[in-house]
Amino acid sequence: MSSSENPQTARLVSDSQSEMTEIILPNDTNTLGNLLGGRLMHFIDITGAMAAYRHTRTHVVTASMDHIDFIHPVHVGDLLILKASVNRAFRTSLEVGVKAWVENTFNSTRLHVASAYLVFVAIDQNGRRVQVPELKPVTADEQRRFADALLRRRHREAEAVRRKKERQAAAEVAAATS
Ligand SMILES: CC(C)(COP(=O)(O)OP(=O)(O)OC[C@H]1O[C@@H](n2cnc3c(N)ncnc32)[C@H](O)[C@@H]1OP(=O)(O)O)[C@@H](O)C(=O)NCCC(=O)NCCS
Repeated sequence: MSSSENPQTARLVSDSQSEMTEIILPNDTNTLGNLLGGRLMHFIDITGAMAAYRHTRTHVVTASMDHIDFIHPVHVGDLLILKASVNRAFRTSLEVGVKAWVENTFNSTRLHVASAYLVFVAIDQNGRRVQVPELKPVTADEQRRFADALLRRRHREAEAVRRKKERQAAAEVAAATS
């Protein structure tokens, strides 16, 4: 029995790992036939949400998506492969890592396109935040991602405080000069 069948138990990373493959069509691309960055972010969000749904078995909303570098272009007709894993569950939020590759349909080569970390928040039917099941990392890679996710959470929190102070300082300057 998969550990995700019992809501009381800690979940394994393998319980919620998710994968999506998309063929890139003209509607997904810019005027040069390359996948649009925003469209790639959409696919990343959807794949990450699948893992978050499977881990929490409730509704989730995207709270944040970290910095993304677009490392390699994706062309019309290519296959885009996305894989998502939950890195760590907190109280009502969880961090999911998503990695995307492009596969050339004719020669089957695969290249890394982009990676991102997303934070999802679990909510119930009425939009109230709900506690998420614990994550139990098993392999060395899962344990490393679990530890790193806490560092990234602290970094996000520090950034949020810094941005808030910056906004307050700007508002004070605006008030003093108006
Ligand atoms: C995400 C959201 C539910 C957080 O609500 P909030 O009242 O700010 O929540 P809190 O500050 O109490 O934080 C709740 C949890 O979310 C996390 N969180 C909130 N904002 C976050 C952010 N910007 N990045 C990462 N985590 C965040 C907190 O760390 C906390 O996690 P924990 O319970 O595991 O400790 C709320 O901002 C929201 O509904 N945003 C819109 C979501 C949405 O529509 N997404 C789709 C994109 S348009």
